[in-house]
Amino acid sequence: MWSNDKSIPKLHIAFIDEEHREILIFLDSILNGKEDYPEASIRGFKVYLLEHFQHEEYFMSRKGYPEYEQHAAAHKVFVEGIHSGLFQEPLKVLEIQDFFALFVGHIASYDAVLVNWLATEKMNRV
Ligand SMILES: [Fe+2]
Ligand SMILES: [Fe+2]
Repeated sequence: MWSNDKSIPKLHIAFIDEEHREILIFLDSILNGKEDYPEASIRGFKVYLLEHFQHEEYFMSRKGYPEYEQHAAAHKVFVEGIHSGLFQEPLKVLEIQDFFALFVGHIASYDAVLVNWLATEKMNRV
């Protein structure tokens, strides 16, 4: 079973880490079939996921992140997955597994690069 924080790189930006944690916990519980998911909770999860991408994109644009376009394009792949019925009953476990792995990969690459850029920017300003 996926064990809490160990497998997600911590980015040390509170809202991002918190949203990643919530998303991965939910995906993990779908994959482990711990609960029966009522339609409303799946719908809530999809909204949460879509909002996460919007929050990051808003954050990047506010900070003037130079790789905004590439990062937002990477989000689009997930958003398309969500809209194409990935999380509709009956849940497709294999595809959700891929989504999970891609999402963790995205955190470790795109999101981590964003956070590193911010840290460098801050240092340059001092
Ligand atoms: Fe993210
Ligand atoms: Fe991202």
